[in-house]
Amino acid sequence: MAKEETRSVIVETHNLSKEYRGEGETVRVIDDLDLVVYEKDMVCVEGASGVGKSTLLHVLGTMDSATGAAFVLGRDVLKMSEPEKEMFRARDLGFIFQHHYLLPDFTVLENVMMPLLIQGESFAVAEQMSREMLGHVGLGHRLSHFPSQVSGGELARTGVARALVGGKKLILADEPTGNLDKKNSDHLAELIWKLHDELGFTLILVTHDTDLAARLPVRYRMTQGRLIGV
Ligand SMILES: Nc1ncnc2c1ncn2[C@@H]1O[C@H](COP(=O)(O)OP(=O)(O)OP(=O)(O)O)[C@@H](O)[C@H]1O
Ligand SMILES: [Mg+2]
Repeated sequence: MAKEETRSVIVETHNLSKEYRGEGETVRVIDDLDLVVYEKDMVCVEGASGVGKSTLLHVLGTMDSATGAAFVLGRDVLKMSEPEKEMFRARDLGFIFQHHYLLPDFTVLENVMMPLLIQGESFAVAEQMSREMLGHVGLGHRLSHFPSQVSGGELARTGVARALVGGKKLILADEPTGNLDKKNSDHLAELIWKLHDELGFTLILVTHDTDLAARLPVRYRMTQGRLIGV
C-alpha cells in the first residue's frame, strides 16, 4: 500500500494550459499539465530547450497567465489582481535566475535588502536579516561590494541570498548554475542543499545540468507540454 502523504501541498495544478498565439499558428506550450508539489520537496524539471520549462515557472510565479487551475501556497494564482501578485511574489516566493538581475547601482547588501523593503520591512530589520542571509551564503565579507566587483560565483550566491531572505516558502529557480563553471556549480548546489536543510523551503528547479538534476529527490522531464516522472 502506498504511504499516505501527510505534508501540505505547496503547488497543485489541474489541466494547466498555456498557448502563445503567433501569426497564423498557436503554440500550446503547456498542455493539460497536472502537478502536485509537497512542502519541502526539491523538484527538478528537465527537458529540451523550448519545451516550456521557464514558461511553467513564470505561470507558477504569477509572471505569466494560463488557463486551467493553479494553486500556489493555497492561492489561486490565475485569478489574482496585479497588486495581489506583486505582494505575493515579494512576500512568499523567491526567484533564482541564471542571469541574476542584481541592480548594478546597489551593493550586495542593498540588493538582498530590496525584496524586504518592498514588502514593507523596516530598514534596520531588512539590513539585519540580509546580513545574516549573506553570512549563510558565505558573503559576509562582500556586503559593500557592487555587483561589478564580485565574481560570477559570488553573484550567483547573492542571487540565492536575495531569493531566500525573509523565510520564503517556495523557491523557483531557472537554470541557477547556467552561467557557472563546474566548481562554482557544485558549490552552488551544495549551498542550496545546506540552506534547504536549515530553512526548509520548497524548491522547483529547472536545469539542463544533469549533475545538479541527479541530486534532486523528485525529477520530471517536460515534454509535449506535460511532466513525466524520471
Ligand atoms: N512571449 C512569448 N510569445 C510567444 N512565444 C513564446 C513566448 N515566450 C516563450 N515562447 C515560446 O514558448 C516555448 C517555450 O519557451 P520556454 O522559454 O518556456 O522554454 P524553455 O523550456 O524554458 O527553454 P530553454 O531551456 O531554452 O530555456 C518556446 O517555443 C518559445 O519560443
Ligand atoms: Mg528557459
